Amino acid sequence: MKVLSFLFFAIVASSLCDAYRILVLFMVPGKSHGILGDGVVRHLLEAGHEVTYITPFPQKNPHPNLQQVDISKNAELMDEKMFDFKTILNNEAIFRNPIKMIQVMSGLFEATIQNPNVVKILNDTNQRFDAVISEWMFNDAYSGLATIFDCPFIWFSSIEPHWIILSLIDESTNPAYVPDSMSSIIPPFNFKERVSGLFAQLFGAALRFFYTDGIDGKQFYKIIGPYLTLRGKTIPSYYDVQYNTSLILGNSHVSLGQATRLPQNYKPIAGYHIKSDVEPLPEDLKKLLDNANNGLIYFSMGSNLKSKYLPDELKRGFLKIFRELKQTVLWKFEEPLPNLPKNVHIVQWAPQPSILAHPNCVLFITHGGLLSTTEAVHFGKPIIGIPVFGDQFTNIERAVNRGFAVKVTLSYEMVDELKSAIDEVLSNPKYKNRVRELSAIYHDRPVSPGKELVHWVEHVVRTRGALHLRSPALHVPFYQKFYLDLLGLIVVAIIVIVTVIKLVLRSKKKEDLTKKNK
Ligand SMILES: *[C@@H]1O[C@H](CO)[C@@H](O)[C@H](O)[C@H]1NC(C)=O
Ligand SMILES: *[C@@H]1O[C@H](CO)[C@@H](O)[C@H](O)[C@H]1NC(C)=O
Repeated sequence: MKVLSFLFFAIVASSLCDAYRILVLFMVPGKSHGILGDGVVRHLLEAGHEVTYITPFPQKNPHPNLQQVDISKNAELMDEKMFDFKTILNNEAIFRNPIKMIQVMSGLFEATIQNPNVVKILNDTNQRFDAVISEWMFNDAYSGLATIFDCPFIWFSSIEPHWIILSLIDESTNPAYVPDSMSSIIPPFNFKERVSGLFAQLFGAALRFFYTDGIDGKQFYKIIGPYLTLRGKTIPSYYDVQYNTSLILGNSHVSLGQATRLPQNYKPIAGYHIKSDVEPLPEDLKKLLDNANNGLIYFSMGSNLKSKYLPDELKRGFLKIFRELKQTVLWKFEEPLPNLPKNVHIVQWAPQPSILAHPNCVLFITHGGLLSTTEAVHFGKPIIGIPVFGDQFTNIERAVNRGFAVKVTLSYEMVDELKSAIDEVLSNPKYKNRVRELSAIYHDRPVSPGKELVHWVEHVVRTRGALHLRSPALHVPFYQKFYLDLLGLIVVAIIVIVTVIKLVLRSKKKEDLTKKNK
């Protein structure tokens, strides 16, 4: 007995302090996605695990426990022009066409999984992983990677919890009070908003069921299948792979979005990518911020949208209003500009968290990407949002609704609007006060998001897939959830009863008639 309990403790102890081997995949060749992936990897490495990281942005001097798999070739798929201001201003962006977007995403899957550097790992039958973490990017077939290595699978979701990702582990959200992640409406909804939300979701679900699932499934059988055969495994059905997720790590938090009801295996960890001690500013920027006695306005349109594609009339207009400000303006811009006013400084690269952390930074003008709005709340800075595509509209709409942002519409005539927005946010203290309140809520958590990330990944590995966290709703068919079978039964019962009563009455009448006739 003693020996047994000793063995038991030895096994528990060894499984507790084991370093795990984790495969992390962030396939999108966009800088903000790279930052999110780097954050996940950093926390896992700091916790002592070994990480194999498939990334378009390999780091220069990697941690000794980090093996990087270079997929920088993915950048060739993402035309820089796709994120061009003019394309978007003129309404030509592909993001408005779901079929085209699905095609781009399935091209991204093929390019990633068939990249020679990735093939080397997948084709090596000695490779072993304890878990696979992959970013979710409109293609569920990545979950097949965990099937290859026979280990639990974890999705990383870069935006607010939305019905598609939740339907992979539980069920869709209710469009009567949860907006689509690509829409900017905020509950409570009126009748029209509820109905259009319902139809958008039904259309999306139909598109997935009749179109996307077929494409993704084919890719799974064709591209992932051979690696299963190589390992002597039978190829499971795509459905069993698609709905076998152990955990979703969500780059979301209730202080940033809305109070969405979440399943047990969805963990909101927004803010984990920000280091707990911000890195010190480079000497020149430090001096600039320290000396900005009237405050500094930080202007950045993110990493995807290059300011150099800004139409000339907008560049000139921005400089004209910045010149009139008493604040210092720090503009992240990719090329030098002639005739810069004294109070305007251009940087090609900006250490955003360190700038926002500085007490003299008073305002952040941003495109409203989720990383930027998260960092604004993290450091308690009010924003002016100029949303351009994707979830940026929702992020800014929510920030406006929560009272710490003013929205400016991207257009050729936006300069005056921007000027009055700057005046409003700088002169009215309500924006600053509100973002400080939200920042306090955001920071008030039982553990830091980075610790939580590591804990849940380890929990999934320790419990071999955390089956106990899975929602029973996942496999309950639609008609059972809505009790359509019961409804059917009631309808049949009513028909039967009515018919029986009718028959009885009719036969009684006949009886009466025959009695009378006698
Ligand atoms: C994968 O490995 C097998 C041997 O195990 C080899 O025959 C095959 O050529 C390899 N494929 C690739 C794409 O490297
Ligand atoms: C589903 O996940 C569990 C737990 O991670 C794993 O053991 C099983 O092999 C997976 N099944 C498929 C079909 O991927």
